[in-house]
Formats: sequence, C-alpha cells, structure tokens
Amino acid sequence: MKANHNPIGFFDSGIGGTSIWKEVTTLLPNENTIYLSDSKNAPYGNKSKNTIVDLAVKNTELLLKKNCKLIVVACNTATTNAIDYLRTNYPIPFIGIEPAIKPAALKTKTKRIGILATKGTLNSSLFEKTSRTIDQQIIVKETIGTGLVELIENGKIDSIEMEELLSSYIKPLLNENIDCLVLGCTHYPYLIPAIQKITGDNLQIIDSGQAVAKQTKAILKKHYLLNESSNKGEHEFYINKNKSVLERILTSSDSKKIITELDF
Ligand code: SIN
Repeated sequence: MKANHNPIGFFDSGIGGTSIWKEVTTLLPNENTIYLSDSKNAPYGNKSKNTIVDLAVKNTELLLKKNCKLIVVACNTATTNAIDYLRTNYPIPFIGIEPAIKPAALKTKTKRIGILATKGTLNSSLFEKTSRTIDQQIIVKETIGTGLVELIENGKIDSIEMEELLSSYIKPLLNENIDCLVLGCTHYPYLIPAIQKITGDNLQIIDSGQAVAKQTKAILKKHYLLNESSNKGEHEFYINKNKSVLERILTSSDSKKIITELDF
C-alpha cells in the first residue's frame, strides 16, 4: 500500500481531541485516520513534563505500529510539553496545537483577551513564548480550567456541575472586560454552548481546530503524503476507558468508524 493511503494518527489525553479530528476530517474527507483516546490517563494537564513525554511516546509508538504517516498531537498539554521531543526522535511529521492567542489579539477591541487552559499548558515555555510575541498593549488574562476535562471525560458536558464550574471561571474573566476567549484545550470546544449560556453574545470564542486542519493539509502536501483516493476515509478509534462516552460524542459524525476499547 502506498504511504499516502496510510492513516493520519491522532492522540489526546481523552475524547477532547475529537474536536480537532472533526475539523481535520471535514477538510480532508478522503484521509484514513486512527485516533487514540488515552482517557485512562486523563487529565494530562496536572502531570509532570516527564510523565507527559512518556505518555506521548507510548501513544506515538502505538500509532507508528499502525503505520501512521503523520501524527496530530490533538492535545494542547501534550503539544506544549512533548512535541519537541517527538519531532527530534521520530521520522514522521507531527502537528501540534497552540492556543489561538494571535488570532484573538487581532480581533480584540477592548485589548483584553481571556484564555482558558490547563495548568500544564499555561505553565509551559511554548505558551510563554507565544504570548510574548503578541502586541504589548494587549492584556492576556489566564485561567486554569481545573476539573473541566474530568467532567467531559465522565460524560457530564451538560450537567449542573459543569455550569457552576464554568461560571466560576468565566464570570471573573467577563469582569475583566475581555471580549475574546481563547480555548487552550482541545476538550473545551465541546463546552462552547455552555459558555455561551453564561456570556450571551458578548464574547468571541476562539479555538484552534480549523487552523490545525489547514496546517495538517499543508504539511501532508509538502511531504507528498495527501491521499488522492476519491473514497471516503475510514476511521478507527481506540479508547482505554469508558467507550460509551466516546461513542456519544461521535454520534453526529456520519463517517465510517470503528470504536474499540483497548488497554494501551
Ligand atoms: C488535559 O489532559 O489536561 C487536557 C488536554 C489538553 O490540554 O488539550
């Protein structure tokens, strides 16, 4: 089989990276994909850098065994902590997720933007480097979304608990007069309806999904790895805990997919 038919690999600390998978497969409907949901080890956001690198290596090795031609690290925390290691040690291209601070900096009128992300992302040097490159006039208000990933992984996106926790993070940001909110974790796009319930139309919510999809396409093209087949792609998902939560989150997608619970 030509490498171009080989799948694009994705991994995340759980089901959240499917927000990225959906954007990539919408832009590239003929690509085959394999998604690893490392839900057993969620959240990555409060683990040490060494542990996150070890988990990223474990996921990468499994995707390489399945002949992936490119890997999307569909997790902000794993990107900020492990992508340099992966790029140095493995021969295929890796796409990472950076919080969309730059697009937010271009959109804000109040010159104040909020960012909701994990501790592991906000404390990373990659995050610091990105925020340093934006206009000095712009104030970035950071909030750690402790507990949000756990609720999503437990299927509680629409719960009262989620509403209360989100309010406790979003309301103080609104009081800071922010007009753009950057979602710095791939789980959080699933919370957009719940966030909008709190903010109304007062806030632009910005995530990285479409930018990552465009970057994935550009890198595949650059390496002559685009799948030129006219058939719709096939999709395999592997999850090491709570298969039903992943099944529920993927119901709206009509693509051909197989979801397997596997201990990895
Ligand atoms: C986490 O595992 O803590 C969140 C994943 C992410 O940062 O995207």
